[in-house]
Amino acid sequence: MTEGIRPVVVRTREELRAARAALPGPVAVVMTMGALHAGHAALIRAARHEARSVVVTVFVNPLQFGPAEDLARYPRTLDADLAVCAREGADLVFVPTPEVVYPGGDPEVRVGAGRLGGVLEGAARPGHFDGVLTVVAKLLHLTRPDRAYFGRKDAQQAVLVRRMVTDLDFDVEVVVVPTVREPDGLAMSSRNAYLGADERRAALALSRALRAGRDAGPRGAAAVLAAATEVLAAEPGCQPDYLVLVGPDTLADVPPDHRGEALLAVAARVGATRLIDNLPVTVRAVAGPAADDPQEAR
Ligand code: PAF
Repeated sequence: MTEGIRPVVVRTREELRAARAALPGPVAVVMTMGALHAGHAALIRAARHEARSVVVTVFVNPLQFGPAEDLARYPRTLDADLAVCAREGADLVFVPTPEVVYPGGDPEVRVGAGRLGGVLEGAARPGHFDGVLTVVAKLLHLTRPDRAYFGRKDAQQAVLVRRMVTDLDFDVEVVVVPTVREPDGLAMSSRNAYLGADERRAALALSRALRAGRDAGPRGAAAVLAAATEVLAAEPGCQPDYLVLVGPDTLADVPPDHRGEALLAVAARVGATRLIDNLPVTVRAVAGPAADDPQEAR
């Protein structure tokens, strides 16, 4: 691992304000909860490539954990995280405590994620996206970036951040970076650290199912879902929560005659670990004789 120049590490609002004021623009922010892996490194690298200065935030946000989710168990690996930030060329790392981010305690007023926050991950984790958007809004105010980078792995989060930025007039460009995968296809996630060897093998069914679904895109929406479902059902170590083909911005199920871009998204429990993954799919044809496009019908 090549060591880069150590970034400046700040922990208080005052330190952040002073260090941020000294950064030349455009400034990019990469928000993280730490436990940085190759997916985060790709976000920092993309930000480094496209902005003059890069700020990384490392904050395990209590607001986005449900009562049954173990906040205390979330991996905390600050020294390794700072090494990744240094290697990828971050300029500034903001590492606040909950008291710094929420000086008044649990915030009374929060960002509401609305309908989009209640489907898919939001249905399984009530309130999760209100917590995410509240902290993202606060970190945008505190770091004042020109661009903010998010991973496509958390597709629903990226959609919601975009909607918040549009709906509430935040002056920032949201950039979504493709998912980084292990060579065998497993999407990078901090939660992969919880998987035992057998569970890790079972977890590969998620990306396998998504690829099977994507490959069925030319045969229509129903074929996409059928192909992905078959692969997922063949892995007993995987307990699916949902497998859906949705509009990339609406997150609503696409109709059976959908053509064009869609998002194939999956969530499953592998052992005690809940994993999510997704792939963009181009759905090219209407299944059956209903083709109304004379070009395609030929
Ligand atoms: O994606 C994450 O790690 C978190 O949801 C984020 C965006 C840093 C907010 O806490």
